[in-house]
Amino acid sequence: MGRLDGKVALISGTGRGMGRAAAIEFAAQGAVVFGCDLNEAASTETVALVTEAGGTMAALAPLNLSSREGAHAWVDAAVSSFGGVDVLYNNASALRNGPLMELSDEDWHFTIANELDIVWFSVRAAWPELVRRGGGSIINVASIAARLGARFVGQLPHGSAKGGVLAMTKHLCAAGGQHGIRANAILPGLIYTPETARYIDDPDGPLPAILARIPLGRYGQAHEVARLAAFLASDDAAFITGAEIAIDGGDGSVAA
Ligand SMILES: NC(=O)c1ccc[n+]([C@@H]2O[C@H](COP(=O)([O-])OP(=O)(O)OC[C@H]3O[C@@H](n4cnc5c(N)ncnc54)[C@H](O)[C@@H]3O)[C@@H](O)[C@H]2O)c1
Repeated sequence: MGRLDGKVALISGTGRGMGRAAAIEFAAQGAVVFGCDLNEAASTETVALVTEAGGTMAALAPLNLSSREGAHAWVDAAVSSFGGVDVLYNNASALRNGPLMELSDEDWHFTIANELDIVWFSVRAAWPELVRRGGGSIINVASIAARLGARFVGQLPHGSAKGGVLAMTKHLCAAGGQHGIRANAILPGLIYTPETARYIDDPDGPLPAILARIPLGRYGQAHEVARLAAFLASDDAAFITGAEIAIDGGDGSVAA
């Protein structure tokens, strides 16, 4: 018996990084996974990886989830494939970082659209399905950047969007209780993915300075975040809602 047996899990951004790791982990724990991504080839590769490992997964790609139409298309496709929604894992995001005065208004709006609006649209599309099911689990990926400024790269739009995701999680917790819907936020620190590889793999990059301030002295791996998400998706977390759980090696808990 898997911990997620019988659950239909919608995971966004399954083409790479933590979304791919979550698809693999959730399916290994028994969930039926419905993914999506902007990148069709990458999405197809993840579906093949999950299927070859004996799991059940389908995905909609290419799909831009940062619109009402995209989010509804995703949820409708999941429901017609697998009959309902038990878990909504809002993982996908795209962002623009940089020094404050070098970012444009367009960079700000792009980041808000692809990190905050994307969660709003996905939640609104999936909510009636979660209610119809009699409850479920929403997992929102925020970031320690929602709580702390960063000096190695300017992250003002990103931190602002993720702060919004954190606040949204509390309101979803309040609205969802009466329907049996739980909503929790994950706050990753530095996790190795294609998005962060440019900093982590850069021999002249900020990695030594970052690692020096992380109590556990390393960056995290995508599968570690996937396991936390699988726990929050499962009935083992049945009394956990409104929580914000950092997975950062202690990075966000100590002064530099
Ligand atoms: N990697 C880290 O260190 C870190 C730290 C804190 C928070 N996070 C958050 O964790 C989540 C996953 O991060 P990651 O590093 O795996 O990211 P990533 O960039 O490696 O992967 C994100 C995936 O989402 C897809 N995607 C982006 N926008 C989309 C859209 N509009 N519609 C559909 N698909 C879309 C991308 O194509 C990509 O496959 C993100 O929410 C990110 O902000 C990451």
